[in-house]
Amino acid sequence: MTAQLNPCGDVAVLVPAAGAGVRLGPGAPKALRPLAGESLLVHAVRRIAAAPSVRVIVVAAPPAETGAVRQLLAGVADVTVVPGGAHRQESVAAALRAVPAGPEIILVHDAARALAPTLLFESVGAAVRAGTDAVIPVLPVVDTIKEVSADEMVLGTVDRGTLRAVQTPQGFRRSVLAAAHAAAAGPLTDDAGLVEKHGVRVKCVPGSAYAMKITQPFDLALAEHLLATG
Ligand code: C5P
Repeated sequence: MTAQLNPCGDVAVLVPAAGAGVRLGPGAPKALRPLAGESLLVHAVRRIAAAPSVRVIVVAAPPAETGAVRQLLAGVADVTVVPGGAHRQESVAAALRAVPAGPEIILVHDAARALAPTLLFESVGAAVRAGTDAVIPVLPVVDTIKEVSADEMVLGTVDRGTLRAVQTPQGFRRSVLAAAHAAAAGPLTDDAGLVEKHGVRVKCVPGSAYAMKITQPFDLALAEHLLATG
């Protein structure tokens, strides 16, 4: 069944999904890899479309797969699909250009975090709505972290109490994200990094273990297990 997005919602979600997924091994682009019978992208979009505040979803697809992705998502939700770029940041910028006038809150969410729960989209959006320019979901770092040299010799131990592992969806006031992308120099791995460079203060909110990034074959197996055990 195709999910209906809220025409009065104030949130647009950009989904960079144009990565190759080299670390998953040979096969289709990562967002199109199967997870319990459906692609990672379909899992992600279904969870986004269920969020009551979401009015617009824009997916940045692998350029050669744009038509296939449009077809794949046709029965899931009313989604705009654009060709992605060579780097994640270019894919996000392409998706941002396709957002129509209206939504003033933009969430950016990696298709690779296919099991991020609907509630996380609502909580990040709510934090932006409450007056914060930039919001990221985070988890505490549980491992001890070492700084090492190029030859893998330990240089020191970092105080993990001050560290956070950062997830998506990351949320932004639209004008703030647009200004940061317009001024961006080199590609960064997340959008909060871009706005930080712009002097914007970024607020952390609790993330979710389900928003893990599916990167390696182990992550895919873990995600299958989570879905099976519900
Ligand atoms: O490379 P990484 O796994 O960190 O990618 C994070 C997200 O960015 C993934 O959802 C991937 O599909 C997306 N991406 C993209 N365009 C690229 C590279 C990555 O949309 N050129």
